[in-house]
Amino acid sequence: MKILKPRNKTPQIQLNNIVDFHSHILFDIDDGPTTIEKSLKILDSEKQQNVSDILLTSHFYADTDDVNKFINIRQDRYEKLCAANQTGINLHLAAEVYLCRDLTLLSSVKDLCISGTDRILLEIPHEKEINSHILNLINQVASNYNVIPVIAHIDRYFDYIKYYRDVIDELIDLGCELQLNASALLERKTLKEARRLLENGCISYIGSDTHNTHKRKCNIAEGYSVIIDEFGKDVAEYLNMNAMKVLNK
Ligand SMILES: [Fe+2]
Repeated sequence: MKILKPRNKTPQIQLNNIVDFHSHILFDIDDGPTTIEKSLKILDSEKQQNVSDILLTSHFYADTDDVNKFINIRQDRYEKLCAANQTGINLHLAAEVYLCRDLTLLSSVKDLCISGTDRILLEIPHEKEINSHILNLINQVASNYNVIPVIAHIDRYFDYIKYYRDVIDELIDLGCELQLNASALLERKTLKEARRLLENGCISYIGSDTHNTHKRKCNIAEGYSVIIDEFGKDVAEYLNMNAMKVLNK
């Protein structure tokens, strides 16, 4: 994977009160940090990047996880992390919910939605095309539970989208919103497509999808720096405000 050269040795933080819309910071619940100490290190990194609010989007798999068990574990980790958090960053409970047939069979997804809202962060299976079966499942989730699907890390499907561009319109026509990972703006192989979607106003939210402080570290300020360089500060502020609005701020 080719990484673009950083524009500055120490990237300037150009945006205040950033919302990180996608993260794995709660400890001992998914493939994020295993201990609270590691969680706190990620929070420190987010703080250095002027992040004020973070959506904690731990993975949830309806085909293997029990909702109540997940909610209880998540609540326990959340309370412990909030008690130890000294950064002043506001932490919001959410989940990254894997799209599968079992997800359409739950009695409710209310507790999986983003921080008491009617939006749900959905993870489309990586190995699959965004075909009519996937679109049908998304539609079922949206209509069964009366929620707005937010498609997590749309950049992960760029190899498919490059050849089937209509799929973006199909997702938007279904009422979906799209979340882009900041890393897509920092890698040569994804920058072009990320730029195209931003130009066309298809992206609603930016997230880091951070899991740790090394291989999948928080890089949201660097991502926003690229947006500011390419499209101007107004566009970056508009995207961040979109995320703030979801949190009623
Ligand atoms: Fe994620």
